[in-house]
Amino acid sequence: MRTLITNIGELTTNDPAVGEDACGTLHDAAVLIDHGRIEWVGPADEVPADAEGFEEVNAHGGAVLPGFVDSHSHIVFGGDRAAEFEARMAGQKYAAGGIRSTVAATRAATDEELRARLSGFIDEMAAQGTTTVEIKSGYGLDVETEARLLRLAAEVTEEVTYLGAHVVPAEFADRSDAYVDLVVGEMLEACAPHAKWIDVFCERGAFTVAQSRRVLEAGIARGLHPRVHASQLGPGEGVQLAVELGAASVDHGTYVTDDDIAALAASDTVLTLLPGVEFSTRQPYPDARRLIDAGVTVAIACDTNPGSSFTSSMPFCIAVAVREMGMTTAEAVWAATAGGAAALRREDIGVIAPGKRADLVLLGAATRVHLAYRPGVPLVRHVWKDGVLTH
Ligand code: NIG
Ligand code: FE
Repeated sequence: MRTLITNIGELTTNDPAVGEDACGTLHDAAVLIDHGRIEWVGPADEVPADAEGFEEVNAHGGAVLPGFVDSHSHIVFGGDRAAEFEARMAGQKYAAGGIRSTVAATRAATDEELRARLSGFIDEMAAQGTTTVEIKSGYGLDVETEARLLRLAAEVTEEVTYLGAHVVPAEFADRSDAYVDLVVGEMLEACAPHAKWIDVFCERGAFTVAQSRRVLEAGIARGLHPRVHASQLGPGEGVQLAVELGAASVDHGTYVTDDDIAALAASDTVLTLLPGVEFSTRQPYPDARRLIDAGVTVAIACDTNPGSSFTSSMPFCIAVAVREMGMTTAEAVWAATAGGAAALRREDIGVIAPGKRADLVLLGAATRVHLAYRPGVPLVRHVWKDGVLTH
């Protein structure tokens, strides 16, 4: 099936070979899609003469951009923590200890319950323009439940991450090394066949650098690729560890230091910012301007989870990144598309160019700036995933 999207007012391609700026922007453009792939991109009045047999969609001057690539989520879980959020807004501090209450609710949930919940999140993300999502385990924290969460995640995405080292579960309190033995032993054996990535929460109150290194190295030896949660609640050595081990991404970076920035800038590791977390936990926003100016590759993700960030809206996260982190809208949109693809080491998504996957978003607004300019307004008009109109 072929589709021609025409009369595009502003097309963000992220293709450096195209267009007027770093986002590969074209005006008055058209895109031709053939069987799930981008076939042609160019000015609307230069559609190839031999292009025929397609369905035409008139964008009516709206903006088109690559589908959002959300490289960090925790959306297989039971229960929620609205009361914890309410208490936080009344002045209580966020502490990762709340994770344990979600673990209890998740262990108690059936596959059907978890699957229904998960598919609800996937639907709401898709309606807001997300066409690729990474999903982590981490609310099971026993062999059976972690493997169960990964199997469910693998039903809806190929970007599945084993996060057995999320926190130390209650039954291992004061025996964190014994829990790490389980994470790198029997749990890894049960989980690795369902996952592509291994992740660890390297933070005071979760896992030390030495424990994090053990977890990541065991995952790498088992064929998984590393990514890391670090510097969310305070500065630490997690960013340096991620860079040293060649992680695709290190995520949060709320308290990233000058040394971390220098190490990131000299590496292939992406720093994934999670604006929903600072928003919902009242932590200070990291300065994305400083990161980008230093040469760090920055992505934006939603980190959808019941504790620190219960938004699934990439447009919302873009708006917050622009308003609070010093990014231009062009940088934030790049970070939510091409940046997310880099954080997942994917070359087939996050860019609108011939041969790439036809994952696109059409806005009911003339420019991508409207994503930040009109926060909270549902601007996503249409979404194509693999060339198929899904919304
Ligand atoms: O990415 N930092 C650790 N994990 C999640 C929060 C999980 C929770 O609070 O339930 C995060 O923010
Ligand atoms: Fe997370």
